[in-house]
Amino acid sequence: MNPIIEQQLNRRSVRNFTGDSVKQEDLDQILKAAQQAPTSVNGQQISLVVIRDKETIAKIAEFAGGQPQVASADVFITVVVDYHRAAFAMADVDKEIVINRSAEGIMAGAVDAGIMLNALQTAAESFGYGTTAIGGIRANPDKMVELLGLPANTFPLVGTTIGVTDVASVSPVKPRVPVESFAMYEK
Ligand SMILES: Cc1cc2nc3c(=O)[nH]c(=O)nc-3n(C[C@H](O)[C@H](O)[C@H](O)COP(=O)(O)O)c2cc1C
Repeated sequence: MNPIIEQQLNRRSVRNFTGDSVKQEDLDQILKAAQQAPTSVNGQQISLVVIRDKETIAKIAEFAGGQPQVASADVFITVVVDYHRAAFAMADVDKEIVINRSAEGIMAGAVDAGIMLNALQTAAESFGYGTTAIGGIRANPDKMVELLGLPANTFPLVGTTIGVTDVASVSPVKPRVPVESFAMYEK
């Protein structure tokens, strides 16, 4: 089978990690590959905050509503919708950004963040690592903003854990609704 399709068919959220380290050279490649994800109007309005510090990861686990699997991850990446960089670029040409004040800005940022999340997870999984998306960080966005030192015009929308999967206790692949009731042709 095509190895990318095989990886996609086998993907599941992984919440049990061995505690071993994600190799820095793998993480470098994961970040580089994820950066190649598309963004709306090539705005590149996503930034990542990569956390390896275990105390900070433990705080994120707490802010996400007390999720122990987050605390046990080796790496936590926050996907940040970032109009701060664009504001800088616009100020350079004496203009003000407006997208951050529109529903379109929220939607474009949220779509781009979701695409980025998937790109990060797919790249991490290609090295055999386990991941889980963590939307729980939105339970305490103000605390996340403070913890990560995020500037104005940014929002920590979602994150992902990355760790070495504990294969002995990994969850099975979760079933999906029948493909015919998910993907419909023409209508
Ligand atoms: C945007 C988003 C946010 C999520 N947030 C959390 C979370 O905070 N904690 C968690 O354990 N799982 C979280 N998940 C994982 C989902 O629960 C999981 O993808 C779903 O149950 C399907 O299981 P599977 O990924 O194993 O197929 C999130 C998934 C997505 C896409």
